[in-house]
Amino acid sequence: MKKLLFSLAGLLFSLAAVAQDFKITHGPYLCDMTRDGVTVVWTTSKPALSWVEVAPDDGRSFYAQEHARHYQTVAGRRLADRTLHAVRLKGLKPGTDYCYRIFSQEVTAWPQRGKATYGSVVASDVFRRKPYPFRTFPDSGADCSFIMLNDIHGRADYMKDLCKKIDFSEIGFVAFNGDMSSSVESGEQLFADYIDAAAALFASGTPILYNRGNHETRGVYSDRLRDYFPTRNGEFYGIYRYGDVCILMLDCGEDKPDSDVEYYGLADYDAYRIEECEWLKKAVQSEEFRSASARVVLLHVPPTTGTWHGNVHLNELFMPVLNEAGVDLMLCGHEHRCSVHPAGERGARFPIVINDNKSYARCDVSDSLIRVQIVGPKGKVAHTHEFPLNRPAADSE
Ligand SMILES: [Fe+2]
Repeated sequence: MKKLLFSLAGLLFSLAAVAQDFKITHGPYLCDMTRDGVTVVWTTSKPALSWVEVAPDDGRSFYAQEHARHYQTVAGRRLADRTLHAVRLKGLKPGTDYCYRIFSQEVTAWPQRGKATYGSVVASDVFRRKPYPFRTFPDSGADCSFIMLNDIHGRADYMKDLCKKIDFSEIGFVAFNGDMSSSVESGEQLFADYIDAAAALFASGTPILYNRGNHETRGVYSDRLRDYFPTRNGEFYGIYRYGDVCILMLDCGEDKPDSDVEYYGLADYDAYRIEECEWLKKAVQSEEFRSASARVVLLHVPPTTGTWHGNVHLNELFMPVLNEAGVDLMLCGHEHRCSVHPAGERGARFPIVINDNKSYARCDVSDSLIRVQIVGPKGKVAHTHEFPLNRPAADSE
């Protein structure tokens, strides 16, 4: 009997320990940065009410003064029913250094129509390490350095090794240009595939600009992917300005015809690409695109090199628009081998660089050219390409 009581007590103690196990499980990482805002994403082991405190990184202690709390809200209501948290920081100043701290308070009970009750608060450490720093995108300037990663296909260890020599303090952002996973089956898989590695390497302070690949349209959890890289427009495609440099992210959809047996009746990408192209036509007419000193397009599937349906449809739809838009460079992936296509080749009026699946592309944009370095393991630069910008920055309309 005594033995049984001891076992029962042990079991209760273990259950209590599990019940108390409320913690931050992944992140934080930054995405969708602009000149005046950024989204901070992280997860907790249990549903929580979460917020971010942010302060100018001006050398003073994070606790020099009290900070406002920034919550994730939907139509005015703070979210407290989930473990994935995405808080948009708004109203920041361009090109400014900030630091931030994340907080989550466990929701211990929330009976139907009843009041929510809260448990303990967990937060990122600001005592044994500095609060997470970041810098907002600048308002002006023709210089922009960024890294593009693509086709990692869940090889987190390879990605960590590939990127270990990068000084991310020199980098404005890291663009993921598709196929970071081979399919999307769960949130945990996304973290294991590459998000944990990205957060450890750079993404708590250097933002991710996320672009989807054709493989990320697959898997039972694919429809939730957007939640892990939220954007202001709710779409995978979008337009960014880093100073005077414009970055256009285009979503490729799938590579085979929508009726392909591999898509199990779920693909509707012809209609999607047509809808996206209507957005693209407006985007290239926008002030942020037209007035840019350099215009770089990211698209996972190369539109001019392949003969699969996805390539062909992208070529038919997007290229006539982009050819008239004054694009300076397009960056692609998908093929798992590197190739460079000068302006004028295969009907494209701008150069296209296709990165392989073992390298990253480092892009340095200035007022006169875009330099692209394809960098492989051990920081070895495989090749460098320079693309002159054919118009002065002053031709801003
Ligand atoms: Fe791929």
